[in-house]
Amino acid sequence: MSPFLVTRTLPEDATDAALRADVLHGLTRTPKTLPPKWFYDAHGSELFEKITELPEYYPTRAEREILVARAAEIAGATGARTLIELGSGSSDKTRHLLDALSGLHTYVPVDVSESALTQAGQALIAERPSLDVHALIADFTGGLALPGTPGPRLVAFLGGTIGNLLPAERAAFLTSVRSLLSPGDALLLGTDLVKDESVLVDAYDDAAGVTAAFNKNVLTVVNRELGADFDPDEFTHVALWDTEREWIEMRLRARSALTVKIPALDLAVDFTEGEELRTEVSAKFREEGVRTELAAAGLELTHWWTDPQGRFALSLSMAR
Ligand code: SAH
Ligand code: TRP
Repeated sequence: MSPFLVTRTLPEDATDAALRADVLHGLTRTPKTLPPKWFYDAHGSELFEKITELPEYYPTRAEREILVARAAEIAGATGARTLIELGSGSSDKTRHLLDALSGLHTYVPVDVSESALTQAGQALIAERPSLDVHALIADFTGGLALPGTPGPRLVAFLGGTIGNLLPAERAAFLTSVRSLLSPGDALLLGTDLVKDESVLVDAYDDAAGVTAAFNKNVLTVVNRELGADFDPDEFTHVALWDTEREWIEMRLRARSALTVKIPALDLAVDFTEGEELRTEVSAKFREEGVRTELAAAGLELTHWWTDPQGRFALSLSMAR
């Protein structure tokens, strides 16, 4: 069997130091915020997989349709020998790409969720004995150190996860991705598209309440890691569409006035009744915006594909 390597660039105590800093910063400012990467402990990764199967959550199915239809074109245009996937999660949709990339030598899945990475990696090496899988436990916003693998490189960033970064973070992120590439290497980017408000809101506020549970999972993570006493039942899941900024904003709204103690930070945080904590944005895109943001980072958009219903886009861009 081919090697399955796992490299950790997040220190074991990263949850500690980085989570402490993020929680301290986020819960002592107005309005309160928590950054989205803390959703994804083992339970959060499982809940996300459940989200991808919800009738209301169309992005996963739409992106898969595009991948199935375009994988051969992507393989032809890139000739990739190394596929690096950022925020790879279960690597489920990626299998369509792995099948099509005939010259592929190494797959490098990158994720903060160790449980998702090891599960996906183990399954992949069992299925594809000739593929090298080098998993990286790392924060994709933190400047990645990639293994020295053969080019051409293709970086894939699927799931619309780029929309979870704020505009300034997005610009910095795309520039850092460009720095990983040589001329002729490519970026395959999945972006959810602006559409009817009710379709968008339902995708982030499903009838079965899975997204609500996912959103509240961040409180459970803070409880477990920092000894906090958040009662998830005291908060309501809120998803709303910001027409101006064209993003979905996820919040947790305090049902009543309450105080949360966070012993690891020696902190008590007061919430007023109805006060909202922002946990996530999920920006939606248009072709011109994506082209412009890529160009600003030195990436030239060469292909733009949508599903037949025009809900989601995959774009391919080349490092100049
Ligand atoms: N690509 C998969 C999963 C998308 S969910 C799909 O399309 O279905 C987003 C994934 O990104 C999760 O697996 C999460 O653990 C990971 N992630 C979120 N923030 C991250 C960060 N800052 N660095 C690395 N991985 C991150
Ligand atoms: N990248 C996914 C998205 O923006 C992540 C996601 C889906 C998500 N549903 C969520 C994040 C609910 C937080 C809460 O579509």
